[in-house]
Amino acid sequence: MTSYRIAVIGGTGPQGKGLGYRFARNGHTVVLGSRAAEKAVPVAEEVSARLTDVDGAGSVTGAANADACEGADVVVLAVPSDGHDELVEDLAPALEGKVVVSCVNPLAFDKRGPSGIVVDAGEGSAAESAQRIATGATLVGAFHHVSAVTLWGDRDLIEDEDVLVCGDDADAKAVVIELARSLSGRDGVDAGKLRLARQLEPLTAVLISINKRYKIHSGVRITGFDAH
Ligand SMILES: NC(=O)c1ccc[n+]([C@@H]2O[C@H](COP(=O)([O-])OP(=O)(O)OC[C@H]3O[C@@H](n4cnc5c(N)ncnc54)[C@H](OP(=O)(O)O)[C@@H]3O)[C@@H](O)[C@H]2O)c1
Repeated sequence: MTSYRIAVIGGTGPQGKGLGYRFARNGHTVVLGSRAAEKAVPVAEEVSARLTDVDGAGSVTGAANADACEGADVVVLAVPSDGHDELVEDLAPALEGKVVVSCVNPLAFDKRGPSGIVVDAGEGSAAESAQRIATGATLVGAFHHVSAVTLWGDRDLIEDEDVLVCGDDADAKAVVIELARSLSGRDGVDAGKLRLARQLEPLTAVLISINKRYKIHSGVRITGFDAH
């Protein structure tokens, strides 16, 4: 597997930390980003501490978001949808020329439970918004359906789940399809063009609803698919 340098924006949150842990566990170099570098450093130390006994693990460090992007092959956006567009606007110069992966799920919660937020009257998604703002980056949508709890869990591989990957650029998508191996041990599933993030992002509301009902951390598995 190719070894990448991966910046995780919002790497102090459960999803960013969990993805960073999985990537580093599989030999990638990870920089966890934060709006405040001093917040990212202890989180990076916590992740590193879990990797001391893992042969071939990559390093994990912490940095301010823009600094984390420097020299990165891949940048993962793991921030809430609130404030997402402003963050991407600020980071746009640092994202220039990079493969940028969005796992952002714009969701709303009310008395009836979770639901997807309609982005741009249904004509958009967080991933497409990021692409529209950071025109010099190549956006890919992935990792929307893997729970942070599962990522940080004790299993070596999350073999019972698939990572669905959407994007318009075949090369960028291929990088992320391979990165999915860090989680499941298998290639991610090419789920189509970036606009399908409009379907993938709100699907998470269904998984959260299932999680609440059955007290589990559900994920997605595509039947009939064998990437080996
Ligand atoms: N949690 C899950 O199980 C899960 C699963 C799949 C996908 N996701 C998606 O992954 C993303 C991150 O999830 P999470 O649960 O880790 O979220 P989170 O804890 O709410 O936020 C992650 C990090 O984003 C940064 N952040 C918060 N508000 C921000 C703002 N207005 N602007 C810029 N940065 C901000 C914070 O880092 P700093 O304060 O250090 O900058 C925070 O630690 C979300 O879009 C979520 O939908 C989550």
